[in-house]
Amino acid sequence: MSMRGVTLDQLAQLVERAERLRRLIHQTAMDERPQESPPIRFGLKEASELIGRSPTAIRDAETSGKIPTPELGDNKRRLGFTLDEINVAREYFGTRLCRQAGDEPVCLAVSNFKGGSSKTTTAVHLAQYLAIQGLRVLLVDADSQGSATQTFGYIPDDEIELEATMYPFLVGSEKDLRYAVRPTKWSGLSLIPASLDLYGAEYAIARAITEDNRVLNRMRSGIAGLRDDFDVVIIDPPPALGMISLSVMRAADALLITMPVGAYDLFSTISYLNMAHQVLESITEMLGHTEYKFLRILITRLDESSEVQSAMTELIPEHLGSFVLPVAVKKTAGLDRAGMKGRSLYEAGPEDIPRQTLKRGIASFNNANEEIFRLIRRCWPSHMESLRSEGIL
Ligand SMILES: Nc1ncnc2c1ncn2[C@@H]1O[C@H](COP(=O)(O)OP(=O)(O)OP(=O)(O)O)[C@@H](O)[C@H]1O
Ligand SMILES: [Mg+2]
Repeated sequence: MSMRGVTLDQLAQLVERAERLRRLIHQTAMDERPQESPPIRFGLKEASELIGRSPTAIRDAETSGKIPTPELGDNKRRLGFTLDEINVAREYFGTRLCRQAGDEPVCLAVSNFKGGSSKTTTAVHLAQYLAIQGLRVLLVDADSQGSATQTFGYIPDDEIELEATMYPFLVGSEKDLRYAVRPTKWSGLSLIPASLDLYGAEYAIARAITEDNRVLNRMRSGIAGLRDDFDVVIIDPPPALGMISLSVMRAADALLITMPVGAYDLFSTISYLNMAHQVLESITEMLGHTEYKFLRILITRLDESSEVQSAMTELIPEHLGSFVLPVAVKKTAGLDRAGMKGRSLYEAGPEDIPRQTLKRGIASFNNANEEIFRLIRRCWPSHMESLRSEGIL
């Protein structure tokens, strides 16, 4: 593309203005952000489903002081169980659904080189869903845009130092990735955050690769070093085919490919699959076998009012078969508004999204997440029997 008429000075001016705009938007988000978002809470019926015991058994355990009693609100009504309290109850009843000895942790990358294909939204909602199920989850933000980090209430450029991201580990100045893992307000869910400077890892890895291509395995070995602490690791990669994305493909042992079904989206996902195949072939040649425990396509942001999209969702499984998950994530109006405030659908309230829309949105994400959770459980020998008794195997 020609740069005729656009001088570097003009571009610099544009950058300066854009940076000011970014600070303004961030500042607005900061001002709107609740000081301390309250934790999500679950009523007795929901808690009973999550804990896997009857409401009576839960009340009895509460009365005998074996499990915590939910806090009371201003009107003296119970506020509901926090996820922390649910997990205490699960430990007490022995119903927490973690992986057992002999089950390998699953490292799942949400992948598509196409920008805006719902990777971050999928990664964040899946991570939170799995934490609600009682798993120990690590969400790795590998995208210098830091969108996943933002969902956890951080303003990446202002609040996340480069030293707190994966960068020092990726460039070899840290030997253990544990320094980058931070807890979130979600019980059982930890985060490795990202900031804009993480982009520098693209250059650092590109330089290092000329000497030793095993640098592409660094992310993998960092995550492997954390394996004892987690059941599932979810990676949110950048929307580009760069060194970080290659490292993510190497680190992952399962791939979830997000696919919106607008006409261009579908075509670019097909190009992505093509490219991913070629890239994996050459990485395998360089570094040895790349094997995934599973690979699935998740149709996302489905607009059911669109005839084209509805037709596509019928056509796609006919051709791609069981590679496509049988449930799609529907488009939920207001999700981006909640996201600006650092809230997922699980945290959003009626002030963000109308009640019925929110309920439908959560149900849609839950259906998809449940399917993915089943695929994860299928990787764990200790879950085989329960999957069989649930009629899934
Ligand atoms: N199911 C959905 N319903 C409505 N909006 C959605 C849905 N999924 C994602 N979005 C919106 O689409 C936009 C892009 O989503 P997201 O940021 O998750 O994509 P991404 O693939 O991570 O983008 P990038 O490539 O820039 O990292 C966001 O504004 C998000 O709020
Ligand atoms: Mg993203």
